[in-house]
Amino acid sequence: MAAKTPAGPAYEDRVVHTYDDIEEYDNHLPNWWLATLFGAIVFALIYWFHYEVLRTGPSIAQSYEQSVAADRRAAAARARLAGSMTDESLLALSRDPATVQTGRRVFAQSCLACHAANGGGGIGPNLTDSAWLHGSRPTRIFAVVNEGVLTRGMPAWGPQLGMERVQAVVAYVLTLKDTNVAGGKPPQGTAALE
Ligand code: HEC
Repeated sequence: MAAKTPAGPAYEDRVVHTYDDIEEYDNHLPNWWLATLFGAIVFALIYWFHYEVLRTGPSIAQSYEQSVAADRRAAAARARLAGSMTDESLLALSRDPATVQTGRRVFAQSCLACHAANGGGGIGPNLTDSAWLHGSRPTRIFAVVNEGVLTRGMPAWGPQLGMERVQAVVAYVLTLKDTNVAGGKPPQGTAALE
């Protein structure tokens, strides 16, 4: 079989291997290919320095958490604006760290005396179990905190704290629900959802 080697010194110089009439050339790699290779190496170095060495920005997990937190803040803001309170809007508040933080402060000031610092109960019932005297739905809990159960020693907090702080403390109480802290008071009421 006749070799189809293109003539000319440029080609002959570049033959590095011949076998059974098949010639292998040392051709230059195309520029687009080299650009992709070196581009990927540069990208990998920048990426590695940014995320692993210098940590100059939030990690992927952190930016995920930031966007989840922003989403929750927005949901809480919508819930507050919604005015009419629903189980969903109170649950949205209970997932917003800033609201829960406010609620934790209100709890430490106004509720701890009767429900214990960890919510485990004392004069008042345990708020960390799944049994509820007045219903476990967020709007039921809100109603009890807002209006109290005056004949049974639970004050009405609406007039004293105002709507926003009552919402916040209810959001905090919702985070205690079902956490069953150690040393809490035995359950009172039922676990029925109403
Ligand atoms: C002076 C004591 C006292 C204080 C202070 C107090 N509570 Fe209570 N709380 C009670 C008592 C007693 C009950 C039980 C009422 C009953 O038996 O019906 C109760 C019931 C509750 C319930 C209903 C529990 C259930 O099982 O249904 C919630 C929720 C609650 N309190 C939240 C709060 C929050 C939030 C605060 C602070 C803003 C607070 N309480 C402050 C005494 C108190």
